[in-house]
Amino acid sequence: MKQITQHTFYVGVNDRNKTLFEGLWPLPCGVSYNSYLISDEKVCLIDTVEADFFMPFLENIREVIGERPIDYVVVNHMEPDHSGSLALLRQFYPDIQVIGNKKTFDMMKGFYQLTTGLQEVKNGDSIELGSLRLQFVMTPMVHWPETMMTIASAPDASPADGTILFSGDAFGCFGALNGAFIDEQMNCDDFWPEMTRYYSNIVGKYGTPVQMALKKLAGVKVDYICATHGPVWHENVEKVIGIYDRLSRYEAEPGLVICYGTMYGNTERAAEVIARAAAQEGLKNIVMYNVSMTHHSYIIRDLFRYRGLIVGAPTYNTGLYHEMNVLLDELSQKDIKGRLFGCFGSYCWASKAVSEIQRWNDERLKYEQVGAPVEIKQALTPETTAQCEALGREMARRLMGKDD
Ligand code: FEO
Repeated sequence: MKQITQHTFYVGVNDRNKTLFEGLWPLPCGVSYNSYLISDEKVCLIDTVEADFFMPFLENIREVIGERPIDYVVVNHMEPDHSGSLALLRQFYPDIQVIGNKKTFDMMKGFYQLTTGLQEVKNGDSIELGSLRLQFVMTPMVHWPETMMTIASAPDASPADGTILFSGDAFGCFGALNGAFIDEQMNCDDFWPEMTRYYSNIVGKYGTPVQMALKKLAGVKVDYICATHGPVWHENVEKVIGIYDRLSRYEAEPGLVICYGTMYGNTERAAEVIARAAAQEGLKNIVMYNVSMTHHSYIIRDLFRYRGLIVGAPTYNTGLYHEMNVLLDELSQKDIKGRLFGCFGSYCWASKAVSEIQRWNDERLKYEQVGAPVEIKQALTPETTAQCEALGREMARRLMGKDD
């Protein structure tokens, strides 16, 4: 049994079999689908798990409450990794009341044809469970339109229960829970970069709604954050809120992401020259990615961390090397703001890559341009090498505030 506070228990599951979350994002260390059970005068489940995991989920529930019925299930988020067990749950607990908002129930009808036993709540509404009171906070577009959060607290401020924020996907991260489930019981080092990768790829487009949600929660002193993925946060509550605040404001460190495509190594050599020049200028945070070799989710993660981006690729089929097109399209959908941009590219007989990369920035990314684009015919020459060095130096100086 996994107890969090006097009345609250972890009843989620781990998935170490799925390779791509949402069919898109690699899961090298799995993922957890977190669900929580409050055993009070009333019994209340907060979110469920993917349908494939229903039986171990049911075992976790019964380990806590035995044959007691469940009175409520709160649906903070309808994405099927959390709502997938609702229809099965109803079969085992036919009298369970489903708590959600109007948009939740629209989706519930579409996904699962569930239309009865529903209790609609609005922002600020509350429900008494006995010792604990649940209050509902609407947080639309973090990252679906129906998303809400639930705050559980004891009206008599019982220290045995504290205040728990059930936050849905917000503050969650990739990575299965290996034994421990609360941050203070584990080494969290591997979860921090996975929190940023989770945020940037799944929630990252919705910085403004995340900021609005943080403002709504600003007056609540939270003791535990129970997200739908990753550890329960207790000793790191302030840290994870700070991470979300910075990421949703697109705040970045002075660092440089150089991502490139390369066919025979000529564009890659140009990337090396740019990186070397930036390092010689004193810039310490430089990451380089071959766009064909690194999953784009890691590159996008680093674009949320670092302020500088230099993109390079060869011309291919009289257009832009297509793997770079895919990355730039993904990046442009994320709406990352306030970045510095540079570019370079190569061609054999017909120049196209640089103008296409430039067009991505002019029309979609709209980052501030730093340095002159470098265009390489076939292979580096002393002249184009000097241009690459100038680009690396200029970007480094801007990132370090030397030219501001
Ligand atoms: Fe973990 Fe948006 O579902």
